[in-house]
Amino acid sequence: MLISKIGKRGTLFTFQDGDSPMGGDTSVYLISGKERLYLCDTYLGTGSMRVVKEYINNRYGEKRLIVFNSHSDFDHVWGNGAFPTSDVVSHCKTRQRMQERWEFDFLRLRRFHDGEIFKRLPSIIFDSNMKFEDDRIEFRYAPGHTVCSSVCIDLEDSVIFAGDLIEKPVPVILSSDLIIYYETLKSLMDMDFETLISAHSGVSDRTLLSKNIEYVKALFLRERIEFPEGEDHGAHEFNVKHLVYLKYEDMARELEGSGFDFDTFKKRFWEILGVGQDMMSIESKLMMDTPEEKFERAWREYCKE
Ligand SMILES: [Fe+2]
Repeated sequence: MLISKIGKRGTLFTFQDGDSPMGGDTSVYLISGKERLYLCDTYLGTGSMRVVKEYINNRYGEKRLIVFNSHSDFDHVWGNGAFPTSDVVSHCKTRQRMQERWEFDFLRLRRFHDGEIFKRLPSIIFDSNMKFEDDRIEFRYAPGHTVCSSVCIDLEDSVIFAGDLIEKPVPVILSSDLIIYYETLKSLMDMDFETLISAHSGVSDRTLLSKNIEYVKALFLRERIEFPEGEDHGAHEFNVKHLVYLKYEDMARELEGSGFDFDTFKKRFWEILGVGQDMMSIESKLMMDTPEEKFERAWREYCKE
């Protein structure tokens, strides 16, 4: 694990290959405010948070800790339970989406459990933003990567923790509204900051932000997107197919309104496609392997039931 200091009061903990059950880099970010500590994201469980907790206890003792979830994906919230006496702050949709998909992700992604995982939903939610004026900290809604994404802005150090909104070479897209994503990234570009942190690409800059903006725009316009030789374009291939799949989840939400149940949708839709819930650990692969026409036929079948 890499621990690096950012600005006057930030510490970035970066889990690398071999540090946890999940490959690649993932960072959580700690800010030591005058009054409180703020921890952006909690990764994969109590196991992942052990070093972070030790670090906090050794340096900051009894200072009150606020946990912030940048969005509801499992690799950012499963460690919330490691901080039972701290408040967890997030956007209201983060809490909603976390509640909605907790069971599904907890079961299908067992291979990524790191230590114990307690279901700890946010205790304080905000709508557009939330400020801790005395510590010059702001959490602000910034939808795009997911419908529930938000950023943490440290006004004192001029740092933005952007979660999964930006990523190298391209961000993973888990929400179908690309216009909203584009607008969010443009608004980040218009903000005044010195340091931009991506949860999976570490300390980033306006160049990556600008490339991600161009990417989201090109994807929306269905333009051909080229990757330099050797650059990993797996995320792009996933995005293209996932947007196709998401269309059906979105339609089911619209069709069923308040009766929509995430687990039931997953179960029924995949069952029509001949896939049982025991196969959900490889849902992404199955999605990539399923031809678009099959999704369309499954949807027609789904509507008949
Ligand atoms: Fe993530």
